[in-house]
Amino acid sequence: MKVSVLGAAGGIGQPLALLLKNAMPAGSELALYDVNPMVPGVAADLSHIPTPVKVTGHGADQLEAAMADSDIVIIPAGVPRKPGMSRDDLFNVNAGIVKSLVETGAKVCPNACYGIITNPVNSTVPIAAEVLKKAGVYDKRKLFGITTLDVIRSNTFVAELKGLDPTSLDIPVIGGHSGNTILPLLSQIGIEFTQEEIESLTPRIQNAGTEVVEAKAGGGSATLSMADAGARFALVLLDALNGKESVICTYVEVENQPTRFLSLPVRLGKNGVEEILPAGTLSAYEQKLFDEMLPTLEGNIAKGVEFANS
Ligand code: NAD
Ligand code: LMR
Repeated sequence: MKVSVLGAAGGIGQPLALLLKNAMPAGSELALYDVNPMVPGVAADLSHIPTPVKVTGHGADQLEAAMADSDIVIIPAGVPRKPGMSRDDLFNVNAGIVKSLVETGAKVCPNACYGIITNPVNSTVPIAAEVLKKAGVYDKRKLFGITTLDVIRSNTFVAELKGLDPTSLDIPVIGGHSGNTILPLLSQIGIEFTQEEIESLTPRIQNAGTEVVEAKAGGGSATLSMADAGARFALVLLDALNGKESVICTYVEVENQPTRFLSLPVRLGKNGVEEILPAGTLSAYEQKLFDEMLPTLEGNIAKGVEFANS
């Protein structure tokens, strides 16, 4: 199996590559690409770790070599937020980056699975879908927006509040990945909450990215927790492609739902998405938040589709 990481010299890319180097199966290959000329050095550095995973580094003019025959492409390339910005404010720069990376992937790894981290995820995933469709290689079972960070944050915050082991939790988070489009389903985890607790936890989870952006005070957004989330996602997907199925919440193209893309629990297997599972019964509070966020999510999706086709 070959995994390529595009944006591998960045704040997310480097720790993500480290986690993958230490956990990918023996005999697999990790290809690192970045426009930052430091990337061969990042690869050299990682290659000294004694694990049976081959690491290669690829600079600006070597995108095709980095992506060629990848089974999984993980994309954290692009700019992060600064305080006062929304994820959508990153669209003008990041939309073009994702578009051009996926255009190359369509040529050199047409069967790859894509995990998109670059924000705004609600729009960059539809961009990737349209690019792959135009190239005639789109398989909606193989395109994912990585929303795992919303799940691990939910697990952490609930565990802190209730005095639980966070590793015992797996809280479903549906919707999208920005502000009010992030919807944790706290009613579904068999834990009793007061309405006051739910109304404090839910916005905390929705605004957790902003909490980090503000705390980093201009130095960027979540990198270490995102690297952890990205590695969790990539490793679960690798296992699934190798035959070990799992269920994970991720932002994918869906059918018979109010929006074309939605994060839902998904059963992953040898072909990527094997089954999109229902969100289950929402509480009245969750249903209200779900209905209220739909116009924002729809707008984000339409913006991405329009950009890709313009
Ligand atoms: P960063 O600036 O530290 O790193 C980004 C890297 O991308 C840099 O090394 C840069 O050289 C590289 N890059 C820029 N253009 C490129 C291109 N055309 N090809 C290849 N590489 C390119 O930023 P970061 O903190 O790693 O964040 C990256 C992205 O991830 C941001 O858009 C951020 O908003 C997003 N993000 C998403 C989530 C999520 O939950 N999905 C979480 C955190 C951050
Ligand atoms: C996050 O949720 O931490 C990321 O989407 C980065 C951001 O801009 O908040």
